[in-house]
Amino acid sequence: MAKIVDAKDAIPQAVKLLEAGELVVFPTETVYGLGANAFDAEAVAKIFVAKGRPQDNPLIVHIADIDDVKRVAREIPQSFYELAEKFMPGPLTVILKKRAEIPDIVTAGGDTVGIRMPNNDCTRALIRSSFPLAAPSANRSKHVSPTLAQHVLEDLGDSVKLIMDGGPCKVGIESTVLDLTSDVPTVLRPGAVTVNMLAQTLGEVSSEGKVIRIAKSPGMKYAHYCPDAETVTAADIAHAVQAYDAAISSGRRPVIVARDIYRDSVGERAQISLGVTDDDYARNIYAALRAAEKSYDYIIVEELAGSDLSYSVMNRVFKAAGGKRV
Ligand code: TXA
Ligand code: MG
Repeated sequence: MAKIVDAKDAIPQAVKLLEAGELVVFPTETVYGLGANAFDAEAVAKIFVAKGRPQDNPLIVHIADIDDVKRVAREIPQSFYELAEKFMPGPLTVILKKRAEIPDIVTAGGDTVGIRMPNNDCTRALIRSSFPLAAPSANRSKHVSPTLAQHVLEDLGDSVKLIMDGGPCKVGIESTVLDLTSDVPTVLRPGAVTVNMLAQTLGEVSSEGKVIRIAKSPGMKYAHYCPDAETVTAADIAHAVQAYDAAISSGRRPVIVARDIYRDSVGERAQISLGVTDDDYARNIYAALRAAEKSYDYIIVEELAGSDLSYSVMNRVFKAAGGKRV
């Protein structure tokens, strides 16, 4: 069974495990990661086993400092350094051409590698004392990503030894994935570093616009972010309340997941709060879905609209609901 240890105190043990080719769960500002030495194919293989992840879905390599990029990638364009100056450390993953030292299992056999510098001091100290870390989110494959150490324990407690506890993740959704190897830089997965922010730095960014379908990121063809209970989104609170009451009439146990501004409309009905602002919504959504699936069998989630962040967050929430709206 995994041990949860305060991230500051866990570094020496984490270094030992990584040197021995074992896995370590580490905190980041987005979601928790399940890491292995990115240069060690056998260690990385354990990640796929622990998560039950298909091997054709590549992993992100996490680095501590900008200079580390040269150990992992080749033919690094100037635009990478411009992005790094603005957004690293931070919730941005950049796809570059990989170096031969990065084993195929990390990149699913491809010639490119995702690189990210997480904004977490303990995690970066760990990387400095060990290796760049290949890591996906630390959930079992297809489940909601973990934003608390406890979430990781629930999903992977039997298959990892050490979970470094960095508290709740501040951003709460996974990093933006940007491909810098295509002619026009292309957003493969939206995140807290938004398309507009990227366009300001790069001049030109391609994204899927309003369509929530991102074809090039191999991971996007799999089901993701799925709670263990039926989930739907509601265009507004009136629809949410209507769906809730209908579910009660048919003997189900529904819950409304919404921001506090709707408390009055929700009334006595079961609600899990997403806080007040769009940032709160992003930070809290995964924990709310995990809490909801434990006590309810029908999860009705408020849709968020109008901001760049809401676009990124709804990319995940629509997937959690499988596109079902009420
Ligand atoms: O915020 C995050 O990015 C978190 C934390 C732990 O850093 N990590 C994360 O990893 O979300 P994961 O494996 O759950 O999602 C990575 C996504 C997948 O959709 C994968 O297909 C895509 O990035 N990806 C990774 N390497 C790629 C590559 N070389 N080319 C295209 N897509 C890539
Ligand atoms: Mg994931």
